[in-house]
Amino acid sequence: MNQSITLALSKGRIFEETLPLLKAAGIVVLDDPEKSRKLILATNQPHVRVLVVRATDVPTYVQYGGADLGITGRDTLLEHGNQGLYQPLDLQIAKCRISVAVRADFDYASAVRQGSRLRVATKYVAIAREFFASKGVHVDLIKLYGSMELAPLVGLADAIVDLVSTGNTLKANQLVEVERIMDISSRLVVNQAALKTKTQPLRDIINAFAGAVGQ
Ligand code: PRP
Repeated sequence: MNQSITLALSKGRIFEETLPLLKAAGIVVLDDPEKSRKLILATNQPHVRVLVVRATDVPTYVQYGGADLGITGRDTLLEHGNQGLYQPLDLQIAKCRISVAVRADFDYASAVRQGSRLRVATKYVAIAREFFASKGVHVDLIKLYGSMELAPLVGLADAIVDLVSTGNTLKANQLVEVERIMDISSRLVVNQAALKTKTQPLRDIINAFAGAVGQ
């Protein structure tokens, strides 16, 4: 008997870059989430379905068993925590980095050297807190949910901690990257209880993904 498998994915880059991995596991998604409003997508395998969720919600769906497995960025996982999640693979997709950026006219090095208290806007509060604590820099963190680049431009913050991929968004807003905190890529996460009850179908998917990414 085929056991049903539910995979949580977010729209956009992660979804697009996951399609070849799914193909390696013999799974083809039958709907395009950019065109359909459906949140549960069927695949060519009757027992495999895909949930379309917000990127930051992927770990939550997998942790509580709403999905058996999911794909999400290292950034999201670090902010969420690892509870109940087995992380077998770095899929090497959706690669970018998390960096500190400031206005081009802000002397970040001097501010850090002088021990100034920095105001930092970010949606990555846990990552930013740990990074600045490890450097011994005092910060006031301001939580935002998007468009972080605006904060230094309107005097809301001295610096931001955000994802950087091409660097085009920073450049378009006259910001400069002053520190690279960590490299980011997407990870496969699996519900630990599901791994015990649906071992074989989940192992088959994990192994196919591993083969496709050369691990
Ligand atoms: C991310 C990030 C930056 C941008 C960086 O935003 O927050 O704004 O991409 O990419 P770049 O270096 O190639 O310009 P995203 O578009 O993912 O949306 P978000 O604001 O919802 O995070």
